[in-house]
Amino acid sequence: MNSLTTRTQVAIIGAGPAGLTLSHLLAARGIDSVVVETRDRAAIESTIRAGVLEQGTVDLLTGTGVDTRVRTEGARHDGVEFRFGGRGHRIDFAGLVGRSVWLYPQHEVLKDLIATRLAAGADLRFGVSDVVPVGVETDSPAVHFTDAQGRRVELRCDVVAGCDGSAGVSRTALPEDRRVDHFRTYPFGWFGILAEAPPSSPELVYAHSDRGFALISTRTPDVQRMYFQCAPDEDPSAWSDARIWDELQARVAGDGFALKEGSIFQRGVIPMRSYVCDPMRFGRLMLAGDAAHTVPPTGAKGLNLAVADVIVLARVLEEFLASGEERRLDSYGPTALRRVWRAQHFSWWMTSMLHTPPEATPFDLQRQLGELDMVTSSRAGAAYLAEAYTGWPIDD
Ligand code: FAD
Ligand code: DHB
Repeated sequence: MNSLTTRTQVAIIGAGPAGLTLSHLLAARGIDSVVVETRDRAAIESTIRAGVLEQGTVDLLTGTGVDTRVRTEGARHDGVEFRFGGRGHRIDFAGLVGRSVWLYPQHEVLKDLIATRLAAGADLRFGVSDVVPVGVETDSPAVHFTDAQGRRVELRCDVVAGCDGSAGVSRTALPEDRRVDHFRTYPFGWFGILAEAPPSSPELVYAHSDRGFALISTRTPDVQRMYFQCAPDEDPSAWSDARIWDELQARVAGDGFALKEGSIFQRGVIPMRSYVCDPMRFGRLMLAGDAAHTVPPTGAKGLNLAVADVIVLARVLEEFLASGEERRLDSYGPTALRRVWRAQHFSWWMTSMLHTPPEATPFDLQRQLGELDMVTSSRAGAAYLAEAYTGWPIDD
């Protein structure tokens, strides 16, 4: 079998938001990287995931030369609606904190990043297999993999960036006795659909009801994204379109509001988990994004947190590579984890405020309504939510 040896400064495992953004930010600093990714480009560019970009994520994409369509094809949202007790209650992001979010799907962000990196001559290896980070506790680490042509490759580097998501190989390269896994699963999932229909609301709707949570989001003027709380092991194929619409309508009902229905062309169940790996570094292996942490989707933080991690990581790697001083790598984890734990709290809080646990009592439901009332009617409560949802300033 042919075997190749090659070298770069930073070997990046995973071409998701974390890996591609890191490669882009490093290139802007004159730092060479190679990205290895198990999936092919078409799969990455068509997988439906998150949809909400914080203002800071949009500013980063547009301010660092990514050839992005977020401002032309994405939609700026200056607020969000919470529905409970049969009424809608708006939170005015722009008025409260002077910031907004953008609806622009994750796979469109990935298309923009891949096109920008390839136009800059980047080395992105799609369709690789058997990826193994090696020697990360030494000063000459490497990533071994089989490339799309079947050749075994040894990619030598100064640092390995583990950006391979929650099911990748990087996290498991951190020995169990050297890390703490903070983990929580929730006793429900999200049933997500894409439907050909006009928007039902100008802004996102987060709905609390005694039947459980629902979220009304959007993709384009003709395609809508909606979710509703379901059992974690729900079988999406067991639901007819009519039953899905009835369930969604029931959860948002009140004051004449009704969803505009249409043909459902994509469906799936998303698990709800909170996870943090501490530390985020083992020797020359640095974890970023979902490889290091997972949040339940309620706060729309997953993609944004991945981007915030690699902003810090790019700065730390630049300092390390310029000085050769190992201690420069130390600040990455603690700096990134500060934001991670704030986002963990926000995502857990939004989840617990809006979802109906299987054993919920009338007390639990009334307490949630009291909390929603406080958040939507108190300026301080609404400002906390607006600040967290649109994203705290990036602390790099
Ligand atoms: P990923 O996007 O997971 O990217 C990791 C990449 O690494 C992938 O392309 C993967 O193929 C690759 N990879 C994996 N293993 C290897 C390996 N061994 N070698 C090389 N490459 C490898 N967040 C929200 O905020 N809202 C949502 O609605 C939402 N929906 C989601 C739905 C699903 C089904 C999932 C899985 C996640 C969802 N998220 C959502 C979370 C959000 O999409 C993630 O937080 C975000 O993708 C994290 O980016 P990342 O780059 O860290 O990881
Ligand atoms: C979407 C996903 C989220 O997790 C969220 O909180 C808001 C919107 C979306 O896919 O549009």
